[in-house]
Amino acid sequence: MCGIFGYTGGKQAQNLVIQGLKHLEYRGYDSSGVAIQNGAKAIHFEKTQGKIRNLEEILKKHPLQGKTAIGHTRWATHGTPNDLNAHPHLDNHSQIAVVHNGIIENYFDLKQNLKKHGARFRSETDTEVIVHLVAKYYKGNLENAVRRALKDIRGTYAIAVICSKEPGKIVAARLDSPLVVGIGREENFLASDVSALLDHTDRVIYVENGEVITLSDRAVSITDLSGKPVKRVPVKIQWTITQAKKGGYPHFMIKEIFEQPEILTAILRERIQKSKIIFEELKISAAELKSVKRIVIIACGTAYHAGLVGKYILEEFTNIPVWVDTSSEFRYRDPKVGKGDLVIAISQSGETADTLAGIREAKMKKALTLTICNVLGSTMSREAKGVIYTHAGPEIAVASTKAYTAQLATLYLLGLYLGNFLKTLPEKRFHALVKELFRVPSMMQKVLDQYKKEEKDWAAKAHDFNKRYHAQLEKYYKADPEKRKRSPNGFFLYLGRGINYPNALEGALKLKEISYIPAEGYPAGEMKHGPIALIDENPWVICLAPQSKTYEKMISNIQEIKARGGMVIPVVTEGDKEIYKLKPFYTIEIPKVSEILSPLVAVLPLQLIAYCVAKEFGEDIDQPRNLAKSVTVE
Ligand code: M6R
Repeated sequence: MCGIFGYTGGKQAQNLVIQGLKHLEYRGYDSSGVAIQNGAKAIHFEKTQGKIRNLEEILKKHPLQGKTAIGHTRWATHGTPNDLNAHPHLDNHSQIAVVHNGIIENYFDLKQNLKKHGARFRSETDTEVIVHLVAKYYKGNLENAVRRALKDIRGTYAIAVICSKEPGKIVAARLDSPLVVGIGREENFLASDVSALLDHTDRVIYVENGEVITLSDRAVSITDLSGKPVKRVPVKIQWTITQAKKGGYPHFMIKEIFEQPEILTAILRERIQKSKIIFEELKISAAELKSVKRIVIIACGTAYHAGLVGKYILEEFTNIPVWVDTSSEFRYRDPKVGKGDLVIAISQSGETADTLAGIREAKMKKALTLTICNVLGSTMSREAKGVIYTHAGPEIAVASTKAYTAQLATLYLLGLYLGNFLKTLPEKRFHALVKELFRVPSMMQKVLDQYKKEEKDWAAKAHDFNKRYHAQLEKYYKADPEKRKRSPNGFFLYLGRGINYPNALEGALKLKEISYIPAEGYPAGEMKHGPIALIDENPWVICLAPQSKTYEKMISNIQEIKARGGMVIPVVTEGDKEIYKLKPFYTIEIPKVSEILSPLVAVLPLQLIAYCVAKEFGEDIDQPRNLAKSVTVE
């Protein structure tokens, strides 16, 4: 939520900050702004509502000169997304400017107090109290003033502050919101995420909670909140700038969908060596694993769906019972976890506030904690006892695709590792599964190649849906204008069973987040307990029906939908003849794969359907409205 970027060095800063913010735009795009030092008495700044391109337009007309600057892209929490609430925020004399990611919980009391002492507030944000506090405590040393101001603040923050009286200096600090320093040559950077630093450097320092950073062109100093120096060695990041660019694809989402076979191959090659599963970074001992009596998975959104698939995998391979919870429910219900429990937190970003709070709750209750996450050095990876990185590379599109299949791959590997280690998975099955896993990337590739071949057909189908969707709505309203008051009758239903039920949830989530069309994922067996009432000739019903022990049951569900005029799109195993007898609206075939591994392949058509429909509807695929890539607020 919100992205911040800072630069200090020998170059003009404005465009570097804009470029950095563009890499962070996935974190929020309600407004953006930049503040710059240029030797004048006051800080110069521009900020505006909407995406970064709006800010760029303004800066084209009124460029800002200066070599030290901070910038911000916002996902609104306190105050509507307008120009005034956009960051940076400045003190009464425009000598100090602040950008902030996080939430200041006690801002209301602080605001009342600061107002009494003459602070003039211009926005409705919680952030503005920070700049007035820093101004209040400023006695000629910005670092000391920031440190003092932080003592008054309760909440979460990653902040960057500049002051017109201290040229070339940026002071930053973090508590529970991510912040990374990029080390350059005679220039230094700050960002919410490493992807924004890849254009400039691969040497970074992950700022820890409670640290205060002072950057100049040639130095980075780190202290704790009491001012004691902290020694940290920069680490080298493996991600490359090419990974963080679209590389000829129209959207990051489709690029990331197409990266999946390659990522899976890389994960398997790294983790499976001489038929052994290797997790070098795990940090959990064999004795600790042996004591696990129950596994609890916590996660949000797509990662939660991966966790649901994980339940099927881990229970089957280890015989250990597995519970899955959304992090927000887990953390607020006094969860009964403790010794003997392994709590696995799954997260792409490793920063999601609810999941992080879940890990802390589990640790407090003495459970063993492990995070499966994508971002190296993220807060979860540092706070959980153990970590397994998913190595999906930077995921830029807000709608998660490759992170999901990388999470699934990691869960399969973890299941194999534990099953082998606990001797709950027979050797023969272990080897057969490893062998088949290595074939999955080529199965995924086949689905993607088929899509490429039929792309026009998919687009035509999406166009047809669009036409029907709107025609149907019109017909519906014309027949009974009163109905306009009710919710529209166009939607998607995703049905799955067993290990593909979570994929149905994931397919529905993908569609609704990027096309805003109502979509629901359901276990097919539950259809007749309610959702069947929705079926007429209108909704698209996506049925996950690859070969499995419940295939026949799925066919019965499809018949029930057809009998009510529903438009069925089944996802089936290639060579399935039965399905065509039911005359589906459109059939998608996937290669033959064993049921337990099928989610890795079956999810691809669902990601592609969501992409095609959103494209047909002309939506902003990579940055859907109201969403942010990582949700670092509760
Ligand atoms: O970074 P995380 O994996 O913890 O994020 C969890 C969810 O916010 C995320 O999966 C979200 O649901 C995505 N937009 C789904 O596409």
